[in-house]
Parts: sequence; C-alpha cells; structure tokens
Amino acid sequence: MKLFDYRKSYDKNELKIQDIGNNPIDFFIKWFKEAEDTSEIIEPNAMTISTVDKNNSPSSRVVLLKQIKSRSLIFFTNYNSNKGKALDKNKNICASFYWPPLERQVIIKGVANKIPEVESQNYFSSRPFESQAAAIISNQSEKISSYESLLKKYKSFIDKNKNTKLNRPKNWGGIEIIINQIEFWQGRRNRLHNRIQCVFDNDSWEYKILSP
Ligand SMILES: Cc1cc2nc3c(=O)[nH]c(=O)nc-3n(C[C@H](O)[C@H](O)[C@H](O)COP(=O)(O)O)c2cc1C
Repeated sequence: MKLFDYRKSYDKNELKIQDIGNNPIDFFIKWFKEAEDTSEIIEPNAMTISTVDKNNSPSSRVVLLKQIKSRSLIFFTNYNSNKGKALDKNKNICASFYWPPLERQVIIKGVANKIPEVESQNYFSSRPFESQAAAIISNQSEKISSYESLLKKYKSFIDKNKNTKLNRPKNWGGIEIIINQIEFWQGRRNRLHNRIQCVFDNDSWEYKILSP
C-alpha cells in the first residue's frame, strides 16, 4: 500500500456559479439525476450523515436518501440509535455525497426533525416484510450478545408473525433535514477544484465561490 503514490487527476467537468441557477436544490436534483444515470454509481442515494452527541463528539455514517423535497432531504432510521439520540440533543446535521465517477461532492448542512408519523407509517408499510421485521427486532446501536442471538430473535419473530401485517415501531421513522447550506464541489485539474457554496439566509439563497 503506497498511499502517497495515489495521484488521481480530476478533469471530467467544470462548475461555474451561473450553472447553479435560482434554486440550488433544483441544481442538486440535476446532479443527483446525473449520478443516477451513471452506471458505475451503484447507490447514488448513499449519503454520509454526521451528527454531534451530548458530549460534543462527532459521528458519521452512511444512510440512504429516500426523498428530496423543495428544501429538505428525508432518510429513515431508528430514533433510539446513536444518531437518533444525538439528534434529540443537537438537531444540527451534515449530509455529504461523493460520486467518484463524476468527480463530484455535495455537502449539505441543516437541521433535523422527525417527519409526521403517518408518513413514516406509509413508508414502513411499503417495505418488504423481512425489512419490516428487521426494523422491529433490531435495537439499532445497542450491544448484542452475539450475531447468532440476533438471527434467533429474527427467525422466531418471523415464525410468530408470518402472514400478519406488521406495525411500525414508534421508534422507527423518517428524519427530515431542512437544508440551510449546500456546497457543490467539482474536481478540476491540478487540484484547482470548483467549489460553490449556497447559504439560505433571509428567505433567499446567497452564493459564494470558495477557494479549493
Ligand atoms: C450503504 C448503506 C446504507 C445504509 N442505510 C441506512 C439507512 O437508511 N438507515 C439507517 O438507519 N442505517 C443505514 N445504514 C447503517 C448505518 O450506516 C449505521 O450503521 C446505523 O444507522 C447505525 O448508526 P448509529 O449507531 O450511528 O446510529 C446504512 C449503511 C450503509 C453502508
């Protein structure tokens, strides 16, 4: 492993401030669609979200983006997980996407809120039975005695609940990130990358070009 020898050059695209248009969320959707249309990108909706817990300690992990709204992003999780507990204390959240084949990164900052229960219920009902069962039996982020014990719990739950309609546990649902900042990064030659930061302030978007 010679990590110092990795020297990828970025030269596929460029990004100008005027490309963003009036609404950076529309521009994000445009980039997202381009990521979806790029066959090498297997999960364009995988995003890294970062939270800060009650001890001011940051954590990052990947979740799947499930909905893009006019000024927000939605993902689903266990509200009692580490991220859920961190968000209860500190609503600030950062979400980032890296789409290597396009040499693009997007960094979004905002505040997180639980979505209405009926919307979490609707999405829960649309999931396969096995995923619903897993969401019910897994106390996400809690210590377990062994993987086998988890499998046993899962199988016994499935046996008992075959052919029944499962209800969403109250601690599982959607989180909506209300976006107040979004940065678009486009890799360029010689590490002179394009960065455009858009900040939502006083009901409108302000754009800045940032030094790479
Ligand atoms: C590709 C990928 C997709 C994932 N999607 C989700 C998701 O949508 N929701 C979720 O809660 N965890 C998801 N995870 C698991 C999280 O990364 C993480 O392990 C879990 O949410 C527990 O995080 P926490 O202990 O920090 O709360 C995903 C992991 C990967 C690698």
